[in-house]
Amino acid sequence: MQPPVCGHFGGAQPGSEVPLRYGIISDIHGNLPALRVALAELRHQGIDELLCTGDLIGYGPWPNECVAEIAEAGAVCVAGNHDLIVVDRLPNARLSNHARFILEWTRTVLDPGAAAYLGTLPLQANVEPELRLAHGSLEDPERYIFRDEDAAQQLALLGELVPAAQTLLLGHTHKAMAYGMRTRELRIIPRAPMSLAGDRHLLNPGSVGQSRERRPWARMALLDLEDRQMTFFALDYDLDLCRKELIRHGLPPGACHAPPSPVSMGRRLISRLGRRALRSVRGS
Ligand SMILES: [Fe+2]
Repeated sequence: MQPPVCGHFGGAQPGSEVPLRYGIISDIHGNLPALRVALAELRHQGIDELLCTGDLIGYGPWPNECVAEIAEAGAVCVAGNHDLIVVDRLPNARLSNHARFILEWTRTVLDPGAAAYLGTLPLQANVEPELRLAHGSLEDPERYIFRDEDAAQQLALLGELVPAAQTLLLGHTHKAMAYGMRTRELRIIPRAPMSLAGDRHLLNPGSVGQSRERRPWARMALLDLEDRQMTFFALDYDLDLCRKELIRHGLPPGACHAPPSPVSMGRRLISRLGRRALRSVRGS
């Protein structure tokens, strides 16, 4: 195993009792080049603590190395569905044949230390009174939260479960998302800070290691609780290196990037235009 390169993040800054700047990552999926690019950018931006909403392994060819990086970074991390399945913590899991094939390979190469780390990850975590982390949703690590009505339901549930919590961090969809209880869906512009003041939010940083967009971005985010801002990032990384490593292990080279088909892109465009039209009708 290559040694981790990024090391532990620093904790609270001098003069502050609690960490205020958090790196947010999710769905790394065994893609080490993408993870290292994301961690290097977070180190450059300056964060106190790393938060990870799960799926460290699956799809990618470096499961042990990715677990080691996250452990070494001292991340607060919850279990994703792939993390649970590979150590037999999620019976009757729903997975495609493609994902299951790679997960079976992952099981054969996972070292005992990585398996032990994944075996003890919690399903959810609280960080400070106001942050709650889960993978897919508050009730089910396999549930996808894409739609506004589902995001609103999650925020209402968050209010019941953890009244002090203002922010719910999720992953699983591999799609960056920012949804405010009052403001609804917020437009994400990479590197443009987004205000979170005065509202409860659901935030998903998107996937570090298995982009489902046309361009294979490594996505992540920076949450600043002092300024109450979230900044999303979309970073280039060496996709070819990941493909070559997949081939070297006899795995499908497309596993680290799953761009949408033309049909699903058309569906998404229609749905986006529909949402925009609905908003303008509501606003008029
Ligand atoms: Fe995932």
